[in-house]
Amino acid sequence: MSLEKEIERRRTFGIVSHPDAGKTTLTEKLLLFGGAIQEAGAVKSNKIKKGATSDFMEIERQRGISVATSVLAFEYEGIKINILDTPGHKDFAEDTFRTLTAVDSVIVVIDVAKGVEEQTEKLVEVCRMRSIPMIVFINKLDREGKDAFELLDEIEQKLHLKVTPLSFPIGMGYDFKGIYNIWEKNVNLFSGDSRKNIEDTTEVTNLQDSVLDELIGNDAAQNLRDELELVQGVYPDFNKEAYLEGTQQPVFFGSALNNFGVRELLDCFVTIAPTPRPKESEERLVDPYEMDFSGFVFKIHANMDPKHRDRLAFIKIVSGVFERNKPYLHVRNKKKLKFSSPNAFFAEKKQIVDISYPGDIVGLHDTGNFKIGDTLTSGEEIHYKGIPAFSPEHFRYINNADPMKSKQLAKGIDQLMDEGVAQLFTLELNGRKVIGTVGALQYEVIQYRLEHEYGAKCTYELLNVHKACWVEPEDAKSEEFKEFLRVKQRYMAKDKRGQLVFLADSPFSLQMTQQKYPSVRMHFVSEFENA
Ligand code: G4P
Repeated sequence: MSLEKEIERRRTFGIVSHPDAGKTTLTEKLLLFGGAIQEAGAVKSNKIKKGATSDFMEIERQRGISVATSVLAFEYEGIKINILDTPGHKDFAEDTFRTLTAVDSVIVVIDVAKGVEEQTEKLVEVCRMRSIPMIVFINKLDREGKDAFELLDEIEQKLHLKVTPLSFPIGMGYDFKGIYNIWEKNVNLFSGDSRKNIEDTTEVTNLQDSVLDELIGNDAAQNLRDELELVQGVYPDFNKEAYLEGTQQPVFFGSALNNFGVRELLDCFVTIAPTPRPKESEERLVDPYEMDFSGFVFKIHANMDPKHRDRLAFIKIVSGVFERNKPYLHVRNKKKLKFSSPNAFFAEKKQIVDISYPGDIVGLHDTGNFKIGDTLTSGEEIHYKGIPAFSPEHFRYINNADPMKSKQLAKGIDQLMDEGVAQLFTLELNGRKVIGTVGALQYEVIQYRLEHEYGAKCTYELLNVHKACWVEPEDAKSEEFKEFLRVKQRYMAKDKRGQLVFLADSPFSLQMTQQKYPSVRMHFVSEFENA
């Protein structure tokens, strides 16, 4: 198959949701449709179970699962689908944000009873900022939940999306009768007792047709006609261009657990979802159809087996083809590297592959060469951008608890930061190291992993920081900037890339600083162009 054809048939996406909305269940049902797994329950959830925050074995178990579920690939009607897993737990949000740099579109799952929840808001905001095409799936229609119109309103208000329903529920909870598929113009009826099979769908091209009354009863039929009229009146028609630009989001209703509404979602998805998209690099826009290979690292998994220092770097292929045993340029290190056993992912299995195409993810065994955000190419010196670091929420000093192991500690910290577990800041004044994380859970993970993987012990000390602000002076030589550096010396640090950071200790001091030094710009994201 030609490069063009291979690109055309690829869809790489992520499913995002608040924990428990049904992401794992939906993923599993999609794999069932693709024939990639044979039975429900085969996909292991990688979520941290409630109350397991201090159970390190649980975290380790989850790390194992999350390698297996990092990419779930399958074929459906000739389309190669790559689902990238995104952790739902909020303490791992940073990992999810990074994964979102590697997807071409997303499906947002919302629980019909709970509506829009906190994690969904944050994740959708990131997708919106990057104009990632989104499809919304409203799940658990077999349960009592919010009224469909109320929910669509809530999605528009809270997520700032412009929705258009492509399916519509007939009843809900106990009265849930089925789905009218606006996209295909047919009715799909629900029989609650069968969890696996889907009733035959019935084509209803004309809503006034009495077939509808026979199928679902007069009252429900009339109700549906009224509701669909309202849908037509209130919501715009589906516009594929607008969806692809990220300015319109189609909505589907269903029940993942009951395998209901999933096929409709999948059929529409493979038709409308984008093929691998061009990606901005610092130098130029790179098109997937270019013959020369390029890709970037968006995720690193280290030390799955502590006896061997093994790391798996996940690369999203942006352009050209990636081939086994060919030398590629690691742009940051200016080194050529060859990979004898690149992994591709199929459902939950890894396999060595000879060739991969744009949209695909390959897992490369690495001995410490890669960092998140690194670019790999056939030879051209380009740098992909767009894996920014966000200001952490928690900050603690990290101290060495075993003076005999300071080398191990330094190496461990270095590698865990490369993996993106947390962010490291080094204070300008005294060189002390500060670890910043999104969630408090990360500190326990780091401490545990330092001890078990590197034989190093650490302790933490609380540090009162409100936000890390990346500093950008209008003029680095100005008196104002010099004064800022002098007065705020105690609060200045460098991040791992050597960028200057101001650690503001309170919202008030941040505000005062901004007022006093207006020519010193403060960013809460490490990449200013995207801020
Ligand atoms: P997540 O990955 O988004 O965190 O959610 P997950 O799929 O694990 O689903 C969370 C819970 O919601 C699970 O129940 C799952 O069975 C249930 N669920 C998913 N889809 C539907 C649906 O369409 N209808 C109904 N009624 N429930 C649904 P659990 O009790 O937490 O786990 P389990 O013991 O069933 O695995």
